[in-house]
Amino acid sequence: MATINSGNKTTRSHSHHHTSFTRVHQIAALALVAATFFLTRLFDHSLAPCSDANHYTTPDDTVRSRGYGRHLNFNIYVYDKDEIDGLQLLLSGRDGKISADACVKGQWGTQVKIHRLLLQSTYRTRKKEEADLFFVPSYVKCVRMMGGLSDKEINQTYVKVLSQMPYFRLSGGRNHIFVFPSGAGAHLFKSWATYINRSIILTPEGDRTDKRDISAFNTWKDIIIPGNIDDGMTINNPRLVDPLPLSRRKYLANYLGRAQGKIGRLRLIELAKEYPAKLESPVLKFSGPEKLGKRDYFLHLRNAKFCLAPRGESSWTLRFYESFFVECVPVILSDQVELPFQDVVDYSQISIKWPSTRIGKELLDYLESISDYEIEEMIARGRRVRCLWVYATESESCSAFSGILGELQKKVRQFHQSAETFWLHNGSLVSRDLVEFSKWKPPMPLP
Ligand SMILES: *[C@@H]1O[C@H](CO)[C@@H](O)[C@H](O)[C@H]1NC(C)=O
Ligand SMILES: *[C@@H]1O[C@H](CO)[C@@H](O)[C@H](O)[C@H]1NC(C)=O
Ligand SMILES: *[C@@H]1O[C@H](CO)[C@@H](O)[C@H](O)[C@H]1NC(C)=O
Repeated sequence: MATINSGNKTTRSHSHHHTSFTRVHQIAALALVAATFFLTRLFDHSLAPCSDANHYTTPDDTVRSRGYGRHLNFNIYVYDKDEIDGLQLLLSGRDGKISADACVKGQWGTQVKIHRLLLQSTYRTRKKEEADLFFVPSYVKCVRMMGGLSDKEINQTYVKVLSQMPYFRLSGGRNHIFVFPSGAGAHLFKSWATYINRSIILTPEGDRTDKRDISAFNTWKDIIIPGNIDDGMTINNPRLVDPLPLSRRKYLANYLGRAQGKIGRLRLIELAKEYPAKLESPVLKFSGPEKLGKRDYFLHLRNAKFCLAPRGESSWTLRFYESFFVECVPVILSDQVELPFQDVVDYSQISIKWPSTRIGKELLDYLESISDYEIEEMIARGRRVRCLWVYATESESCSAFSGILGELQKKVRQFHQSAETFWLHNGSLVSRDLVEFSKWKPPMPLP
């Protein structure tokens, strides 16, 4: 389990601790990080981890029946909308009118894409008794936005759905996976803390306690996923918009988004008025002439060396991911942001994170002090990593999905409730009363 970690920690520590190392070494280190990941055929069930170049020992095959390091070995069951009463509502609303094709678009499309990719996955099993993990599909972010269900209905439907899942009860939810694609995270399900506080939550949003008293994200249990970038920039060929050579970019930096009354964003719009030749940050609206169309948006975005990604309603920002496809260096101005796959990607090599409390001339001066050579280097490294933000099919060895599968492997637990689980010499799993483990009572009040 520690393999990917330890392998890359070693690699990364070279660039962090040996400050005398040159740029070349840093690039070599990053290339190694990238290569270890890309060359890993995550979908190859038979990959032998011991043939690996990293020096770690592998437990004997007799006890290693599961995935280890880069070797993936697990089965995931995907619930079908027709097998659980109510699940259909979470996918298409009370009238069944909301389509997956409508929900797959936009920054929250991950709720559909991950579901579709799992349906086609070689890790999918159709037998629940064989499954290590269970996926509960739901497009509630989209369904709620389109008026397909109210908050109250969403909450009640989830509870109804979960109460029909014996394997959910058996694990207390610990091996069940949910996607919540927006900044609200699991709060979309009002009583999430009672019912799915042990489950694995996939979300782009990290810890947030700014608007609620408890964070729905837990670093040790949940998985940060990349937001959904428009297919026109990632998968389609030709792309909607191609990057510009650095010398042809008009601005030092830009921010292209609605201010939504957020202090950091307002500050950028002010700053752009003071330094219009360096910073492009127009006042944008939801609609009308002050709204940018999709293509126009990317045409503007590519016209600066640095793309500023300030915090909005929540701390994650799609702009960070988009930057890599117009090839500007993203500058995160969102202090609480959490980024995906941190065991694999060294973010300091491909982006800048600047304190949101120091947005001002100081920031522009700093960005201006970075040479084009250094910018080109960061962009080149970003180009090698960005496949991790693309929700491509499982046949791609580097994709957001392959990254997620790698994270899921690490979440597989043989025993879901340790204090209640015992086993005998012959492999029988039993309860404290030495009877077969199946009557365990989950800690949540399921009907
Ligand atoms: C969510 O639904 C459950 C079951 O109907 C109910 O007990 C709980 O109070 C609801 N939560 C909220 C916040 O309404
Ligand atoms: C989750 O909720 C259950 C019951 O609602 C509670 O007993 C348990 O302590 C909670 N677990 C966590 C990790 O918060
Ligand atoms: C394992 O041993 C226990 C105790 O002797 C017995 O009750 C159980 O049926 C055995 N299980 C299997 C799978 O043979």
